[in-house]
Amino acid sequence: MLSLSAAADPLLQQVDQLIKDALTTSFPHLQEMVDHLLLAGGKKIRPLLVLLSGRVSGEQRNPSQRRSLVSVAAAVELIHTASLVHDDIIDRADRRRGQATLHSRWGNRSATLVGDFLLSRAFDLISDLEQNWNLLPLMSRSVMLLCRGEVLQLEKSYDYSISEQEYFRCNYLKTSQFLAACCEAGGRIGAAAPAHIRALREYGFNLGQAFQIVDDILDFKDDPEKLGKPVGADLDQGVMTLPLIYLARRQERFRLILEALKTRRMSLSPGLRESIRRAVRESGALEYSARRADQARRAALQALQVLPQTPARTRLSHIAEAIMARAGEVF
Ligand code: FPP
Ligand code: MG
Repeated sequence: MLSLSAAADPLLQQVDQLIKDALTTSFPHLQEMVDHLLLAGGKKIRPLLVLLSGRVSGEQRNPSQRRSLVSVAAAVELIHTASLVHDDIIDRADRRRGQATLHSRWGNRSATLVGDFLLSRAFDLISDLEQNWNLLPLMSRSVMLLCRGEVLQLEKSYDYSISEQEYFRCNYLKTSQFLAACCEAGGRIGAAAPAHIRALREYGFNLGQAFQIVDDILDFKDDPEKLGKPVGADLDQGVMTLPLIYLARRQERFRLILEALKTRRMSLSPGLRESIRRAVRESGALEYSARRADQARRAALQALQVLPQTPARTRLSHIAEAIMARAGEVF
């Protein structure tokens, strides 16, 4: 199984440096919190998508285009990190990327502002591009959709009746549309043909669906180390993930329990939590979800077939394989 390092990119170092520069501030308290975030790093999937999509038409020799790819790659990582800082406040999550969340150390008020700071720095980078690829509307729309995804998820919490279609819509809003936008941004800067940009979007969309389903599966496995965040968090917050939807659809008892949790007629005691987790594992829900993730992976690889055979295309396919590898022995 491949790991993400198989897709790593030499320009990622420049991206890291640019993120660091963009977040340098003369406010020591703000700097301390930003440094805490920088320390954790992250998988950098979104910047990688920008960089690789920018090269699907061949190696990027134009220095201005290379600089723009690095700027946009840094911007999407800043947007993503800002969204996680805010998401952790909303979810009251205490760990992320293997360390304490910002709000659990410095409080909600400071953490909210750090998220805003990151977001504004991201849009600064996009506004300062040397050429206009019309990326501001692409990225601002993508952030708007992220917000809608988060609101939809809140609205649907513990909603046992949610259809798979609604589930995939929610994934689209909170994850896969953003990955598609990262691929499109790279494709535009790299002057890819319109058909190739469509293929990149299709790839990013399916990659995002696979990624989110794998994330759902991992929430039911017992490996907080691998996750870098607590397991069972989706269940605690009432997020209707694919394994839970599968269980609720097939077992009346759990459908009723989830409904009682939603209307607060019941609370999630440690015993109930464990019995739901066990039922999910024993019901075949994880295997079913893994099959759906695998379908999305195959669709992502299929989309890449339209593109010229370049090292960048190969590395995009490695990302799809690496994402599936995260779910481990379920497959
Ligand atoms: C993590 O999902 C969260 C997201 C992918 C998006 C969060 C979006 C917002 C808070 C709105 C946009 C805000 C800004 C500042 C851009 P998850 O909760 O399923 O994953 P997790 O288990 O890693 O928390
Ligand atoms: Mg969350």
